[in-house]
Amino acid sequence: YLNYHVPRTRREILEILLKGLRRLEYRGYDSAGVGIDGGNSKDWESNARSIQLIKQRGKVKALDEEIHKQQDIDLDVEFDVHSGIAHTRWATHGEPSPVNSHPQRSDKNNEFIVIHNGIITNYKDLKKFLESKGYEFESETDTESIAKLVKYMYDNRESDDISFATLVERVTQQLEGAFALVFKSVHYPGEVVGTRRGGPLLIGVRSDHKLSSDHIPVLYRSCSYMRLSSSLYACFIRVSKIKRLMWFLICHDSAVIEHTNRVIFLEDDDVAAVMDGRLSIHRIKRTAGDYPARAIQTLQMELQQIMMGNYSSFMQKEIFEQPESVVNTMRGRVNFDNNTVTLGGLKDHIKEIQRCRRLILIACGTSYHAGVATRQVLEELTELPVMVELASDFLDRNTPVFRDDVCFFISQSGETADSLMALHYCKERGALTVGITNTVGSSISRETDCGVHINAGPEIGVASTKAYTSQFVALIMFALLMCDDRISVQPRRREIIQGLRVLPDLIKEVLSLDDEIQKLATELYQQKSVLIMGRGYHYATCLEGALKIKEITYMHSEGILAGELKHGPLALVDKLMPVIMIIMRDHTYVKCQNALQQVVARQGRPIVICDKEDHETIKTSSRTIKVPHCVDCLQGILSVIPLQLLSFHLAVLRGYDVDCPRNLAKSVTVE
Ligand code: F6R
Repeated sequence: YLNYHVPRTRREILEILLKGLRRLEYRGYDSAGVGIDGGNSKDWESNARSIQLIKQRGKVKALDEEIHKQQDIDLDVEFDVHSGIAHTRWATHGEPSPVNSHPQRSDKNNEFIVIHNGIITNYKDLKKFLESKGYEFESETDTESIAKLVKYMYDNRESDDISFATLVERVTQQLEGAFALVFKSVHYPGEVVGTRRGGPLLIGVRSDHKLSSDHIPVLYRSCSYMRLSSSLYACFIRVSKIKRLMWFLICHDSAVIEHTNRVIFLEDDDVAAVMDGRLSIHRIKRTAGDYPARAIQTLQMELQQIMMGNYSSFMQKEIFEQPESVVNTMRGRVNFDNNTVTLGGLKDHIKEIQRCRRLILIACGTSYHAGVATRQVLEELTELPVMVELASDFLDRNTPVFRDDVCFFISQSGETADSLMALHYCKERGALTVGITNTVGSSISRETDCGVHINAGPEIGVASTKAYTSQFVALIMFALLMCDDRISVQPRRREIIQGLRVLPDLIKEVLSLDDEIQKLATELYQQKSVLIMGRGYHYATCLEGALKIKEITYMHSEGILAGELKHGPLALVDKLMPVIMIIMRDHTYVKCQNALQQVVARQGRPIVICDKEDHETIKTSSRTIKVPHCVDCLQGILSVIPLQLLSFHLAVLRGYDVDCPRNLAKSVTVE
C-alpha cells in the first residue's frame, strides 16, 4: 500500500467515515450519525479529549449536510492520530430522530459514545438500575443503556489505569441479546474498542508496513491483562514519519474494500482494542474449539462489484448480473462434459448427509422461497423427506429435530437473526448443519458444520434478486451431488446438468424482454393490487414475485398456489383485478390451463408468463410474456426474472427508491 493517501484533516476524516456509511446505507437508512474528536487545536491528543457528535434523521446525505452546517467545527484541523465512529440506523427501539440515532452517549459531555447493531433484550433492567444510580436517559433506544453502563463502570473503577478494553469487557458481561458494538471515549484518546455477540464485526487493516504476522493473538483475560503489541463503521488513523496506519471496525466488508482487502473476522465475545496504532484482541476465557489467534484474511471482493456502473440502481444491476452470477455459482463445481458435480464445502460430510433421516431447509423471505423452489427436485433426487421452514415459525413451534436430521440454513447475508437462532437450535439437538450463504465469513457460514458459498458477488439492493437464483442453483447442485452414484437417475441428472449449461444464455434471453416488461409496468403501476398464480415448480416464483412487488412498490401483491384458487382466492378475481399467471409445459400444465379458464370465466384477463413455444397458451391468452424453454426444475429461474424486472419498473414508475424500500433493511440482525 505504499504511497496511499492517509486522511489527515478533519474534512478528509469525515469524508472517509461518510463514504463508509454510504457503502453500508443499504443495511439501514432511517438516520445516521458520527462521533469524531472535537477540539480545534494543533495537538491531536487534546482534541481527542472532547467528542463532537453530529446526528441526523434520514439518509447519509442529510447527515453530510448537517455536518457542513456546524459552525464550531474547523474542517481543516489536522490530526496525527484520530479515531471516529459512524452509524446508519434501522430503527428498532424509538422512532428515527437525531436523539435516537447513534452514536449514543453516556452524558451531556459525551464522555463515552457507542454505536450498536442488534438488540439488547435486558435494556429495561439496565436502564432501571442506572436511573437508580442517577444516570439520566434522553433517548428511547436500548443502546443508550450501553453508553451509560460503560460510564458507570468507569465512574466505579477500582484503579485509574483500567484499560478501555477491560471496561468494555465488563459491560458485555451485563448485556443480553445480540450486538456488535464500537466504543470511543474522551478518557481514552486515540482508542476505539469493538466487540460482538451474535452480530458481525470485522476489522480491516491498511498499513504501509508489512504486519509482523498474519495472525493476531488472542489475549485471555485469565492471564493478567497486558497491553501487548501485537452499519457500524469506525476508522482509526495514525500518521507518523515512520508509519501510516488505518484500522477499520465494520459490520460488512463492502464498507472497507476501497481501503484494504485485509480483514480479521472477530468471534463472539472478542474484545478488540486499537490503541497507539496497535490492535489487540481479548477474551474473558478460552472456550472449547476457540482458536488462540485471529487470522488476517484476504477478501476476494473487488471495488467494482459494489459500484453501480451504468445502472440506475443496485437492484437493476443485480438483476442484469444474473447470467454471470449463476456461472460464478457453478464455476469449478459443475463439469458439463462428464456430468459431475463437486462441492468442496460438503465433501467431508456428503456420506453422512446421504444417510440422514430428512432434510430441513430453514430460511427467511427470499431465501425461504429458494427452498420452496427446489424442494421438489430435492425430494426427487435424494428420495428423502424434505421440509422447508420459515426460521421464525420453525422456532415458534419448537419443531422436533433429531441427530440424524440435516438442517440447511439458506441466507444471502449469513447474518439473519431468525435463521441464526434456528441454527443454534438445531446444533443443540445434534443435527448436522449446512450453510448456503453469499457472505464469506458470515456467522452462518462459520457456525455451520459445512456448506456452499453461492458466490453471487455482493448484493447491495435490499430486494434480493441474484442471490435467489444463485441459491436456487446451489441447491440444485446439491441435489445432483446427492444422487451421483445412483444409476437409475443418470439420464435425469444429465438432463439437469445440460440445463445448467445453457442457463446463462437463457437468462440473457429473458433479460432481453426488459422493454416489453417496462411497457407492461406502465399499464399496471397505478393499480392497488397484483395477484400472481402458479403451481408446482412455479409456486415459489409466485411467492417471490409477490414479495418483490410488495417490498419495493408498496402495492399489495399475493402469490397464490393455483391449486388453491377455488378454495378462496378466486373470489378476488374480476375484470379489474390484475392477475399474472405462470403456465409452463411441465407436469402441471393441464391443471394450470384449468386455472386459467377459471380466471377467464370470471372476466379476468390474466397476463401469462409462458413457454415461448407453447402456441396453445399464446393463442388463447390476451397477453403473454414468452420465456425460453428449459428443463422443468430450472424453469423457475427463468419465470422469476420477468417478475424481478416488473417489480423494478413498477417501483421506478411509482417514484420510489428501488434500493432502499421503506421500513426494510438488507441484513435483519434482529428477531
Ligand atoms: C427480500 C429479501 C428478504 C431476505 C430475508 C432473508 O427481497 O431480501 O426477504 O431474503 O430477509 O435474508 P438473508 O437471505 O440474508 O438471510
